[in-house]
Parts: sequence; structure tokens; C-alpha cells
Amino acid sequence: MKNVEHLSGELRQAFIRLIAKYTGLKIREREQAALTEKIFLRMKALKLAIPEKYYLFLEEITIDSFKEWRKLAVLLTNTESYFFRDQGQFNVLRNHIFPEIIKRNRNHRTIRICSAGCSSGEEPYSLAIVLREIIPDLDQWNLVVFGVDINQEALKKAEAGIYTSWSFRNFNVEIKQQDFLVINDQYFISRQIRQMVKFLNLNLVKDALPQSSSQLRDLDLIVCRNVFIYFETSAIAQVLDKFYHTLQPLGYLLTGHSELSGQNLSQFQTQVFPESLIYQRL
Ligand SMILES: C[S@@+](CC[C@H](N)C(=O)[O-])C[C@H]1O[C@@H](n2cnc3c(N)ncnc32)[C@H](O)[C@@H]1O
Repeated sequence: MKNVEHLSGELRQAFIRLIAKYTGLKIREREQAALTEKIFLRMKALKLAIPEKYYLFLEEITIDSFKEWRKLAVLLTNTESYFFRDQGQFNVLRNHIFPEIIKRNRNHRTIRICSAGCSSGEEPYSLAIVLREIIPDLDQWNLVVFGVDINQEALKKAEAGIYTSWSFRNFNVEIKQQDFLVINDQYFISRQIRQMVKFLNLNLVKDALPQSSSQLRDLDLIVCRNVFIYFETSAIAQVLDKFYHTLQPLGYLLTGHSELSGQNLSQFQTQVFPESLIYQRL
């Protein structure tokens, strides 16, 4: 019997190229069987029988195809995250980068930070917790931590701000009590921290950056970790250029370790700390 859920090699490669172009995501050899399943899952939801039709639909530039990409992206992305992931990098932020940003902005008291590829919110909330800790007169500041992600389901979870202990693999219990209400192994983020973070559904590859309408511009820091590991090299370069234009001069970019190896970083100066490198916009 003919396997109905089959993509020809040629069509599968065309899907892989289209996905890389639209989302930056690199589909590896070992992920190709799962990709086929995901494509057929979406086709079923759309009541489409022919994969070529689904491909053509994704290629369209319409509101409907835009919405479909958001649904497909939910299936394609890995949203693994937890609070204070990589303590060393958080130490660099807490001890060196945030104090400098605070000093630099003390006159106009505005700080704008972005967690790019924020998944279900653990990263931007961790950043907000550190900022709340080290800025005593926080209510006098105009401070926003943006959390942006292509995955709308992860963002719903982020907006809700409710976690289980699995999101605290790396977390100090004392801070947990201060910033979360804990009921039956459910952790509700405090109102104060929740209000510091603004979530946006954004595709780093396709959507425009900077965005004056959403204040996603002149940023002091972009944290983009464990995102580029899933990207095609050319997509990383594309997003890196957008980050450059979205940071203010002397603004910082923090990625996961070696996620920028092989990239042209001539627009940035690299600062070296024992725990991590961090890039500063020239
Ligand atoms: C593994 S998670 C990393 C979460 C967090 N930064 C951390 O390090 O814990 C990667 C996130 O990047 C997001 N992502 C992947 N491609 C994206 C794109 N083109 N635009 C925006 N977000 C993207 C995924 O949806 C996912 O939530």
C-alpha cells in the first residue's frame, strides 16, 4: 500500500529551504522524518490532501499564510528554557553589565532590554528579577524587558507566568519565595515582575527590527541565547545585523556560548569575562 504521508525528496528539500528562509531554522537530516509528520499534521488541520498545495500556501504573502506560519512555527521550534539558565552569564549581567547600563542611563532613567527567543518567559522574568534586585528605586525608572518569540503557544505560557518546579532547575529557593506565589507545586510570578515584562509575537528573521511602534529600538541589551544553535548560518548573520540596528550605541548583545562563531562581528567589540563573552555595539 502506498504510504500516504510521504514527501518526495525534492519537495522535502523545498520545504526545508522555505522554512530556513522564513524562520531561520535549520532542519537537520535526523529531523526530516519528524518534519514530514508535522507538515502532514498541519495539512490535516487545513483539510489539504496534497503537500504541494500546502507548500504553495506557505509561499503566499497573505494574512492567512502569515497565520499558518505562526501555527507551523509552534511545531518546529524547541522551547526548552528555565530560570537563571547559565548562572555564569547572569553573574556577568548582575555584576558588570547592568551596573554600567544603570549608571549610563541614570539621568533619563530609561532602560530597554530584550530577551529574543524568550520562549515561555523564564529568561525575561529572570532578567527582571535581577534588575528589581539591583535597582532600589525601581518605581522611578521607565524600565521594560521585552520578551519576543515566534512561538505563540510559548508566549501564552509566558503571559500567564505560571510554572512548575521543572522551570527552577537552577534557582535559589529564597528568591523563589519573594517573586512567586507557590500553590501546589505551581509557581505564579509576582505582579511586580510580571509588569516589568512585555511579550511580543515576533519572527526575528522576517519581521522588521527596530520597531519604533513597539519601542523595540535603542535597546541597552539584547539577550539571545539558545536560539542561533537552531539557525542556518546566513539567518544568524541577518538577525545579527538587525540586532546591531536595534541596539543603541554601546548597547550589549549576549548570546549562548559560541553561538556566533564564524560570524562577522566587526560591528561589535567583544568584552571577555571569565564566565562569558559579551558583545558591545560600536
Ligand atoms: C530553546 S528556546 C531558548 C529560550 C531561552 N532563550 C533560553 O535560553 O532558555 C529557543 C526559542 O527561540 C524561538 N525562536 C526560534 N526561531 C525564532 C524566530 N525566527 N523568531 C523568534 N523566535 C524564534 C523558539 O520559539 C524558542 O522559544
